[in-house]
Amino acid sequence: MNKDLEWSDKFSTDIVSIDHQHQELIFLSQNLLEILSSDKSTLPEKQAAFQDLVDHALAHFEYEERIMLNIGYPDLKDHLREHNELRSEMDHIAKDVMDGKGIDDWKGLVSLVQVWVLRHIVASDSKMREYMRRENTDEDE
Ligand SMILES: [Fe+2]
Ligand SMILES: [Fe+2]
Repeated sequence: MNKDLEWSDKFSTDIVSIDHQHQELIFLSQNLLEILSSDKSTLPEKQAAFQDLVDHALAHFEYEERIMLNIGYPDLKDHLREHNELRSEMDHIAKDVMDGKGIDDWKGLVSLVQVWVLRHIVASDSKMREYMRRENTDEDE
């Protein structure tokens, strides 16, 4: 198992449903890496595992955007831009994967997605925590 792909509390956004989805995305990434590194995996298995990660990531982006809108998150615009970059990156990779092209190169592509997704969770999503904590403190006053 890849040590870089483990959930850590420092990723927490203070929003339980989003944290759960992030954990799920990390799990699906680990699962995909395992399937790709096994000689026994078939092409449809690899494609299904990839699709599973993409589906969850896309649903998660939409969910997160709705929450941000609801809480009046001030950095929504920048965050949306990052999500859209990730969406087109995944779309690009998914085309090759579904064509069965560049199978040998999948691991490289997948690590790219993982790095993007993880970096996004750590760097951008966790900024929501700062906002939530600030807001909660303001309410208590
Ligand atoms: Fe996220
Ligand atoms: Fe996000």
